[in-house]
Amino acid sequence: MAQHPVQPTTPAPAPGDRSLSAPDATAPSASRDDDPHRARPEHAAPAPAAVFDWIDRRAELRRRAGLTRDLRPRPADDPVLDLAGNDYLGLVRHPRVVRAATEAVARWGGGATGSRLVTGTTQLHQELEEELADFCGFEAALVFSSGYAANLAALTALTGPGTLIVFDAYNHASLVDGCRLSRAKVAQVPHREPGAVRTALTEHGGGRALVVTDSVFSVDGDAAPLTELARACRARGAALLVDDAHGLGVVGDGGSGALSAAELAGSPDVVATVTLSKSLGSQGGAVLGPRRVIRHLTETARTFIFDTGLAPASVGAALGALRLLREEPERAARAREVARRLSTGLAAAGLEASVPDAAVVSVRAPSPEAAVTWAQACREAGVAVGCFRPPSTPDRHSRLRLTARGDLTDDQIERAVKVISRWAPRSGTDTTCGRGSVRAADDPPSAPSVMRTVKRPDRA
Ligand SMILES: Cc1ncc(COP(=O)(O)O)c(C=O)c1O
Repeated sequence: MAQHPVQPTTPAPAPGDRSLSAPDATAPSASRDDDPHRARPEHAAPAPAAVFDWIDRRAELRRRAGLTRDLRPRPADDPVLDLAGNDYLGLVRHPRVVRAATEAVARWGGGATGSRLVTGTTQLHQELEEELADFCGFEAALVFSSGYAANLAALTALTGPGTLIVFDAYNHASLVDGCRLSRAKVAQVPHREPGAVRTALTEHGGGRALVVTDSVFSVDGDAAPLTELARACRARGAALLVDDAHGLGVVGDGGSGALSAAELAGSPDVVATVTLSKSLGSQGGAVLGPRRVIRHLTETARTFIFDTGLAPASVGAALGALRLLREEPERAARAREVARRLSTGLAAAGLEASVPDAAVVSVRAPSPEAAVTWAQACREAGVAVGCFRPPSTPDRHSRLRLTARGDLTDDQIERAVKVISRWAPRSGTDTTCGRGSVRAADDPPSAPSVMRTVKRPDRA
């Protein structure tokens, strides 16, 4: 057996000894720089002040393009009507959700204590996984510390060099990052184009392939053609991965999600990811799918293995919200209804509002600057709206993004429409396009994109 090396014993320092190994605590302290015995480590050489100057140049370019981003801490008692968060069902402060989180902290503590495979799996994690899988109609589920981590896990564990990923151009950034990490070949197809998906799969031949899409796209709230995508996958033996972050709790019977609505939940070739941070009013994410897929992720997904388990409070809150949603399934339909009413109200006021398939409504802004000013005016008038600008918008058009919370009253919907249309910018020219990427002249060249673009079949 390995032994600890025996430490040489150091003689007790003589009084007044100033050597480095035996400092005399009673001696008057000399400043570090005055001490002639002190060896100066190499990294203590004067730091070149200019080392991060490129950051300032980039910030200036962002400022000029209207793309500056600032944090704005919100007070706990913010009186503003919130249409900017993702609390689709208004559950984040529901007494039952808060109680479930509080009880989880009292029982299990503030953190999970370790990664899921070591000490970070509590009985509460297991309960959440079983109930979530059952609610959404899948065999099994695996909970992650975020939806972002769940997406990275699904993409990296289910693909690799030699696999083809067929990817909707408007998919969420976490899926883009999953592609980058996967080292797979990626064919990016135009938004909501099953024809282009079929072309990409055919060109790939018979090798392993994964078609990846959001169920409800996060910026405009439009739905993916899941039935056609599943058909394309089955014709060519590909698997389908669907990010249902904006579908869970809103789409399908009682909010059981877009896969369940499309009768694809539980299929042997379909995997879903969700976040617990939107309709479930908590934090965290999950992958849902066939039991063998979930087992494979448990043993191989790096964002599962090398990450501390989701904190008990978040697990408890998600479980509390899920149970509440089961008892009150009408909450999902109400969120969709609020979205429709916001959209029609804004369109009637002459604004370019998206037609929602779930609980997200977006309204076009003529420029990033106009979007910021518009959102700010709405906030000052008591209505908080999301402000999406490049690079957070896939088509580089800036927008206001509204969350149609299921708990909004009729009066609140009316007030929101009134405020948003009252402060709408007058100018109609869209100056946003093409200004998503801000690069300074001395920036290093960007890495080549991993995405190969597949055109629509009719334009090929
Ligand atoms: C479509 C989509 N997928 C994944 C995520 C990431 O989820 P999380 O915030 O739990 O990391 C988001 C969050 O904004 C999202 O909109």
